[in-house]
Amino acid sequence: MRDVAVVGIGMNDFGELWKKSLRTIWAESAFAALSDAGVDSVDLITIGCMSPGLFVGQEHLSSVLADELGMAGVPASRVESACASGGLALRTGFAEVASGLSDTVLVTGVEKMTDVDGADATYALGTAADQEWEGFHGITFPGLYAMLAVAHMEKYGTTSEQLAAVAVKNHANGLLNPHAQYHLKVSVEDVLESTMVADPLHLFDCSPVTDGAAAVVLTTVERAKELSGDRPVVTITGSGLATDTITLANREDLTELAAVRLAAERAYKMAGRKPEDLHVVEVHDCFTIAEVMATEAIGLFDPGYGASAVEDGLTSLQGKIPVNPSGGLKSKGHPVGATGVAQAAEIVTQLRGEAGQRQVEGATIGLAQNMGGSGGSSIVHILEVAS
Ligand code: COA
Repeated sequence: MRDVAVVGIGMNDFGELWKKSLRTIWAESAFAALSDAGVDSVDLITIGCMSPGLFVGQEHLSSVLADELGMAGVPASRVESACASGGLALRTGFAEVASGLSDTVLVTGVEKMTDVDGADATYALGTAADQEWEGFHGITFPGLYAMLAVAHMEKYGTTSEQLAAVAVKNHANGLLNPHAQYHLKVSVEDVLESTMVADPLHLFDCSPVTDGAAAVVLTTVERAKELSGDRPVVTITGSGLATDTITLANREDLTELAAVRLAAERAYKMAGRKPEDLHVVEVHDCFTIAEVMATEAIGLFDPGYGASAVEDGLTSLQGKIPVNPSGGLKSKGHPVGATGVAQAAEIVTQLRGEAGQRQVEGATIGLAQNMGGSGGSSIVHILEVAS
């Protein structure tokens, strides 16, 4: 396998972007990444997008978007793994460069979610759950994660206040991220007093519905060194992908995200790293409980200690292991297909030392964890500054 580097990153400002179309926000982030990389041609475009048909009535994105970039003719493919589609696009691009099939790949993620109303967005997202055993009975994603939260609370004594601390931290970080959908300071009381969405999850325990796109350019480490000048070269040293049962009812233990654990184990093994080596982490906090369970599954904390770790400040920007310095899905927003790519872009920004007020000092090794549905799939990447 060849060593793979991220040589360019780009994303647009996430939010409710009613004046822009899917192709426009996608092209904005793609051009930003190409410009950041200093390249004007690529061998392949990968696109992570969960459900363009249901959200904007457009399938066949590979051709639509390659053409939008003025690159009709270039190979392009869309990949889908629900909310982990962006992470899967990154892994696809990584495999292409590592194997030698492509030298330079534009990896992108996009979702335009606010062109439909809330009920239709909930339906579209719900197609990532098991239709026969979950969707048909009326369950939604807030409901599925509420069940995970209740199980975690019953087994480990996790509290609503501890979950609220995740939202408080991530909104505080999001205040420092110009691309974030929400620039809000929230307190534990604000979270607990916000509308109950699915007991025990309040409005502020949930990620929002978001329009957004993100892109990164991958190439060989050798070419990246030529292109990067004085900037640090960031390499992808580990990539892990795993699945789990989609249906919660089929899981042996509702308090563990097994796909996340497996994907992380595979990424650590490839990179020759362990959780203690990490300096900065982005995890898939689609709900506050998801951040707690993800940090346990990637081995930052023992099972049952993820929630108290947040309350004790261990995952804050100045903490022992900062988690979601970007603001996470909670504050930055969660355009589902874009999220996995945006997470990687944040880790690259951190490892380059370009994160401004939210910079994690001295970070040289980071991890990005992306998740599909209620943990039916997960993708983990480890990124490091090249020596
Ligand atoms: N966090 C903070 N504020 C939020 C928010 C969130 N997650 N979602 C909406 N808001 C705000 C809006 O900005 C709006 O504020 P305003 O009145 O000041 O303009 C207000 O709350 C109402 O917004 P609205 O869009 O009407 O909310 P809603 O009730 O339709 O939707 C949720 C709220 C939580 C149901 C929706 O955001 C949701 O479904 N989130 C989960 C998304 C999801 O499942 N993703 C996949 C995960 S696997």
